[in-house]
Parts: sequence; C-alpha cells; structure tokens
Amino acid sequence: MTTTQANDIESTLPKCPTGIQGLDEITHGGLPKGRPTLVCGSAGSGKTLFAMEFLVRGAQQYKEPGVFVSFEESGQELMDNVISLGWDLKHLIDQEKLLIDHIHIEPSEIQETGEYDLEGLFVRLGHAIESLNAKRVALDTLEALFGGVTLVGSPTSSSCGRNCAGCFAGSRTKGSRLSLLVSPGRAI
Ligand SMILES: Nc1ncnc2c1ncn2[C@@H]1O[C@H](COP(=O)(O)OP(=O)(O)O)[C@@H](O)[C@H]1O
Ligand SMILES: [Mg+2]
Repeated sequence: MTTTQANDIESTLPKCPTGIQGLDEITHGGLPKGRPTLVCGSAGSGKTLFAMEFLVRGAQQYKEPGVFVSFEESGQELMDNVISLGWDLKHLIDQEKLLIDHIHIEPSEIQETGEYDLEGLFVRLGHAIESLNAKRVALDTLEALFGGVTLVGSPTSSSCGRNCAGCFAGSRTKGSRLSLLVSPGRAI
C-alpha cells in the first residue's frame, strides 16, 4: 500500500488506536472506530489478552472507558491473569474506567426448546455501557453465546451469529462507540 493510499484510508475511515504500537502502525491508526472487529484464533492465541489490552490502554491512555463481557473467565480470574502484566483491573474498575460482566453459560446445560431471543443480553450490555459511558466493548467469546442455540430471525445459528454480533456492536452500542468482538478459532 502506498503512503497516499494509507492516508486516504485514514481520512475516510476514522480509527480507534489500540495503544499497541506495532499494531497501530500496520493498521494505519488502529481498529475502525464505531465498528465491530472480529478477532479469530485458536485457544491460547491471545484473544482474551488482546481484548483486555485494548480496554486497559483505552482507559489509561485515551480516556475511553470499556466494558468487558466475559463468557469464560470470571472477573477475578481475569484480574489474576493480568496483574503480572502490570494491569490493575481492580483499580480501573474502582475508577469506573472498566466494567467486567461475567456471564456464565454452561453449554451442556443449554437445551433448546425453541428459538432463543437475545434481547435480555442486549439490555444487560446496554446498561453496562451506559453506566460507564463506555467507548470500547469486548465480547469474549461469541462462541459461548452462539455455539449451541438457534437464534431468532435466521435459519442458521452461524449466520444469525453474525447478525447478532452486528446488533451487539452496532445498534446496541449506539454506532458511535467502538466494539471489539472476540471469537474463537472458527469464524462465526
Ligand atoms: N499474565 C500472563 N503472563 C504470561 N502469559 C500469559 C498471561 N496471561 C495469559 N498468558 C498466556 O498468553 C496466551 C494467550 O492467552 P489468552 O489471551 O487467554 O488466549 P485465548 O483467549 O486466545 O485463548 C496463553 O498462552 C496464556 O497462557
Ligand atoms: Mg480467551
């Protein structure tokens, strides 16, 4: 890509810096602002750490509060995992710069009795975002949500997963805010 092309992209597509120097360089400023970004990778590839770093740096360096919705690790587990990296999540939470919402979904306990409506989750996420006036959102991981259910409005869970990801990231975060979506190894 030429410098002119890179400048064109930056001027037409507002970016949200991750604060991760190399990543912001190769992406010409960071992730697309106000849009969802789907992160895919196998277990242990760094999706959760990336999502957390995005929120921590957003809160610390860019004054952008963030919401981390975890469908896997609890808030305490996330805190314990990253304290050695120098990230004091409790301090950020106390300062209302970060909110961790742990939603435990046990796949073996999901028994489909019909279509599943995500409205409750949308309301919960919307409330969390508004309580902090959050600008950044991470959902980790979507497979926990979409892996085992057939969702309203689509014949397949995978295509509806994409639609719902858009709902989470777009309308439910009021468009102007940035969402980072974290996915497991397979694309949804
Ligand atoms: N505080 C830490 N210090 C060193 N390594 C870590 C730390 N936290 C996580 N890791 C390692 O970083 C890698 C990525 O972890 P993680 O982001 O949880 O992966 P994923 O969410 O993609 O499954 C894993 O190998 C994990 O063991
Ligand atoms: Mg993870």
